[in-house]
Amino acid sequence: MHTSRIAGFYNLPLDKRLAALADAAGLSAVDLAAFTLIGGLTPEQADPMIENAVGIHALPLGIGLNFVVNGRDVLVPMAIEEPSVVAGASFLAKLVRAGGGFQAETTAPEMIGQMQVLDVKDLMTASMKLLEHKDALLAEADEIDPLLKKLGGGARDLEVRIIEESPIGAFMVVHLIYDVRDAMGANAVNTACEKLAPRVEAFTSGRVHLRILSNLADRRLARARCVIPVKELAFETVGQNGILSYTGEQVRDGIIEAWAFAAADPYRATTHNKGIMNGVDAVVIATGNDWRAIEAGAHAYAARSGRYTSLSMWSKDADGNLTGSLEMPMAVGIVGGATKVHPTAKAALKLMGVKTAAELAEIIVSVGLAQNLAALRALSTEGIQRGHMSLHARQVAVAAGATGDMIEKVAAQMVAEKMVRSDRAEELVREYNSTQVHK
Ligand code: MEV
Repeated sequence: MHTSRIAGFYNLPLDKRLAALADAAGLSAVDLAAFTLIGGLTPEQADPMIENAVGIHALPLGIGLNFVVNGRDVLVPMAIEEPSVVAGASFLAKLVRAGGGFQAETTAPEMIGQMQVLDVKDLMTASMKLLEHKDALLAEADEIDPLLKKLGGGARDLEVRIIEESPIGAFMVVHLIYDVRDAMGANAVNTACEKLAPRVEAFTSGRVHLRILSNLADRRLARARCVIPVKELAFETVGQNGILSYTGEQVRDGIIEAWAFAAADPYRATTHNKGIMNGVDAVVIATGNDWRAIEAGAHAYAARSGRYTSLSMWSKDADGNLTGSLEMPMAVGIVGGATKVHPTAKAALKLMGVKTAAELAEIIVSVGLAQNLAALRALSTEGIQRGHMSLHARQVAVAAGATGDMIEKVAAQMVAEKMVRSDRAEELVREYNSTQVHK
C-alpha cells in the first residue's frame, strides 16, 4: 500500500516534489504530465468542452498529505488558489491519522429528478392515480438507461408532493428517485424525467413544465468521522509576548466552543461551512466534478431544519478525545463529464486510486472535515492571520514583481514587520533590485 506521509514534501523544489509523488503513488511520467502541463489541458482539448472556448484558466494544484480514509492511505489532489488550505488539511490529517484516520461512508447514489406538474384540476385524485401506477412508471423509467441498469442503477421510487402555496397557486411536484451508480447523474436523471413526462401528463391530466434534477441531493449523503487523541492537540507557538503554550484540553474545548457558535448562528455558520467547502471544492474541482452542484447542495442541506447551521459537529468522547463528524450531500461521479476527458481529472482519480464514486465522496467529505478542524483550531488559538499571512505575503510579493529568491525574502520581511501590503512589497522589491544592481 502507498503511503500518504511524505516527509519534507513542502520544502522540496517542484521537480523533486513530483518525483516523490510519482514514487509514493506509483504514477507514470504520463500521469505526471497532466499535473505539470499548464492547466492539464490544451486549448484544443478545452474547445469541445464548452462553447466559444478561447483558452484555459489554470489553478494551482496541491497535494493533501497524511490522509487515511477507511484504513487506506490516500494522497489527495486539491485545486485551489487560496493559500493555507492544502497545508491546513495536511496538518490536521496528520493529527487525525494518530487517532486511526477518517471513517467515512455514503448512502446509495440516489439522485432526485423533479417534474413540475401544472394545470391539474384535482391534485388529490391525480396524486392517487400516479401512485397507483407507480410500478409501471418506474419500470418505464428503468428502461431509459440500459447501461446504468446493467451496472445496478436505475429507477428506485416515485414520490408525489403537493406545493400548497406559491406565487402561481398550488401545484404538484413528482420526484423520480434514480440510482446513478458512479455517475454524477444529472444527464441520466434529466433524460429520465423528460422521457417520463408524457406519461405523468396522461395520468394527471396536467401539464409537465420543468423536468430537471434537484441539486439538494439529500438521499446521496457522505459522512466522515474522526477522533483526535487529546494530547495530539497540544502545541506551542511564538506569540507577540513570547512562547504561547496550549494544552490539548484547551485546544479541544476551544474547537467545541467555536463549533457551538456556528451551530447557533447563521452568520458564523456560513463562514464555518465556507471553510469546509475550501477542502471539499478543491478536490471536487481537481477531479473535474461540478462544484456548483456540490456548493448548492451543501448550503441547502445546512438549512434543512429551516435555520441555516453548521454542516459539521464537534464534541469530546468519554476518554476526553476530540471527535468530529461531517454529513453532506455529495453528488460526485467518476464516469462521464469532465472526469473522463480532463487529463488532470483523470490523473487525480488515479492518484487517489478510487474505483467508485462512493470512495471519492468518502475522501472528499474527510477533506472537508480536516479543513474545518484546521480553521477552528487556528481561530480558537493563535488566530487565522498568522499562518495565513506568510503565504499571503508571498502572493503580495509576487504581485509586486518579486521573482526567485526575492519572493521569500520580501515575504519574510513583510511578515516580520507585520505589514503585508502591496506598497511595502513594491518598496522592498525596489530595494532588493537596487542592491543586486550595485553588487
Ligand atoms: C477562510 O477561507 C475560511 C475560514 O474563514 C473558515 C472559518 O472561519 O471557519 C477560516
